[in-house]
Amino acid sequence: MSKSMSASRERRDDGANHPQVARTIPEIRELLAAAPGKAGAVTGLVPTMGSLHEGHLSLARRAVEECDTSVLSIFINPIQFGVSEDFDSYPADIDGDLELAASAGIDLVFAPSAAEMYPPGFETSIDAGSVAEGLCGQSRPGHFQGVATVVAKLFNIIRPGRAYFGQKDAQQLAVVRRMARDLDYEVEIVACPTVRDSDGLALSSRNAYLSAEEREQAIVLFEALSLARKAVESGETSAARVKRMMRKRIAENYLVEYEYARIADPDTIQPVEKITGGPVLLAVAATIGSARLIDNVIATPPGG
Ligand code: PAJ
Repeated sequence: MSKSMSASRERRDDGANHPQVARTIPEIRELLAAAPGKAGAVTGLVPTMGSLHEGHLSLARRAVEECDTSVLSIFINPIQFGVSEDFDSYPADIDGDLELAASAGIDLVFAPSAAEMYPPGFETSIDAGSVAEGLCGQSRPGHFQGVATVVAKLFNIIRPGRAYFGQKDAQQLAVVRRMARDLDYEVEIVACPTVRDSDGLALSSRNAYLSAEEREQAIVLFEALSLARKAVESGETSAARVKRMMRKRIAENYLVEYEYARIADPDTIQPVEKITGGPVLLAVAATIGSARLIDNVIATPPGG
């Protein structure tokens, strides 16, 4: 290994084998080039912002299972946060994350600094168009450009054959799919189901912001989605009625500040008015204490 490389396979006192960690783009490229590779070997990428939980780990385990080399990136991407958002307080625990990545069997961790990803003079941005505009695009202007730009950079740095994203962030998944298709990335985007706590709350790094009482009330998001899914599956075709149903249920919990309850096409994220065709995306967003939480389910109308 060259002297300039600080990447290391971290070995702890407990003897556990930790993933090799790269902090710079040349380091991760060197580690990938040295990865044992037969012809056609596939690299799997799991992009994350760290503070790993079972949701992230379900993606990681799948990448380990399906790919020859698995890479998990940890990067709290400054350009996807708005000025009044939680960039400065976003939870970070790199040691804990490395333990968890090791437990999932991840080979390489890429954890660059902001200066490594965005050196002085950085200006380019990727705009995925209308798919980035509805739902969270309305309240978080620029968010999906930030996501698309960092994911494009990660694709160029890692060159994965497969990249794993959670259905939990349905619009992000649609944006990444649109970008990968439009820009001819040779990567298969793999969507993974939302991992939930036993009461139904979707796991999220931001759940750490919730007090015990807020945590209890947060369950209303999944309850509203479940009610709505049942209605759609029972033949309700009016999106307005289903949205009202979700809104009403969310408003019942006094600590929950409703942001939206919408129904959209899962691929284009365009609003759906009449639920008569194929599966639809039911999506909600709310603020609870200092946590802005989102959740969604897919609902298929009868015969859809
Ligand atoms: P982050 O919120 O850390 O999430 C990383 C990946 O884990 C995303 O694909 C997300 O959808 C998935 N994920 C989060 N919670 C999940 C859950 N409960 N079940 C299943 N999957 C879950 O999303 C981001 O980071 C960033 O925007 C990123 C794509 C890394 C770009 O910066």
